Amino acid sequence: MYLIIGANGYLGSYLIKNILEKTEDKVLATARDMSSCEERDRVTWIKCEVTNDTDIKHLAEVTMQNPGLKVVYLAAYHKPDLVEKNPKTAWNINVTALSTIINSLEKIRCLFYASSDTVYGNSVNGYHFKEEDALNPENTYGRQKQTAEAIVTGYGYHVVRYPFLIGASLLGKKRHFYDEIAENLRAGKKFEMFEDSYRSSLDFNTAAGLLIEVMETYREDYPSILNISGDEDLSKYDVGIRVAKRENCRTELIRPIKMESNAGIFTAPRAVSTLMDNHKVKEILNLTEIRMRL
Ligand SMILES: NC(=O)c1ccc[n+]([C@@H]2O[C@H](COP(=O)([O-])OP(=O)(O)OC[C@H]3O[C@@H](n4cnc5c(N)ncnc54)[C@H](OP(=O)(O)O)[C@@H]3O)[C@@H](O)[C@H]2O)c1
Repeated sequence: MYLIIGANGYLGSYLIKNILEKTEDKVLATARDMSSCEERDRVTWIKCEVTNDTDIKHLAEVTMQNPGLKVVYLAAYHKPDLVEKNPKTAWNINVTALSTIINSLEKIRCLFYASSDTVYGNSVNGYHFKEEDALNPENTYGRQKQTAEAIVTGYGYHVVRYPFLIGASLLGKKRHFYDEIAENLRAGKKFEMFEDSYRSSLDFNTAAGLLIEVMETYREDYPSILNISGDEDLSKYDVGIRVAKRENCRTELIRPIKMESNAGIFTAPRAVSTLMDNHKVKEILNLTEIRMRL
């Protein structure tokens, strides 16, 4: 049985989809706002605001009653500009609550924490970061992810580092960046995207599916940190072209812009490009390639 903490977001909904499709397992899924949770067979929703002591206690009881849970931890305050503006609120959720929760879980089989390529910082000359490379985050969000990783691995659990993820939202009310691009293109509107900022991007479904495959084959000697990323170095512009093709829209509506023309769009500093090496996850899953499926 799986426990997904912070399950009613973009990645959480794709993880639930993949668990239901690839396994016979049931899912315990936590959300702080139960009104937005979709009822499905094999999925039980549990209320959990990760900073709330009563909810944490209840979660600990749930893990006690269901020994051997495979846990994914997703709950996060994670928009870099908001983290930069409200670092203390973010710390409470991203670091303090995470530490309290992992210390309260009982008898679980394994735990994987969703981290981000932002911990690495900027790739120079197209360098692909390996899991053991030094970390050099450019902003407070990245530094909090770095701290969270240290807590998780220090406890003996596992971290997956994801790149920029994209895909149509499975959540009725909550649109993703993908949906925003697609809606603009369908309306015949131009959409500007960076042509000079590269990531080892993946779609949500592939990213979620690979994590579930790792967890289904789990062994205690799996690396404590694993990059789950694509083979291709993709600019946001490249990704935009794929969205246009998938949506049968005109690709010329995607307009390339340079990162330096970003003045005013972002407030938190950002790495221009962050690329990741994915040979470890390929080795574990015996894969020859990992590509964005958009
Ligand atoms: N998307 C990406 O490109 C990407 C890349 C690398 C890593 N990640 C990591 O993957 C995880 C999931 O990201 P996502 O893209 O799926 O974003 P998301 O849709 O915003 O999911 C985050 C989830 O955390 C929940 N949450 C936030 N604060 C909480 C709190 N105090 N108590 C309980 N739950 C709380 C949110 O609940 P509400 O809906 O109620 O706010 C939401 O369900 C995050 O840790 C993120 O840093 C994402």
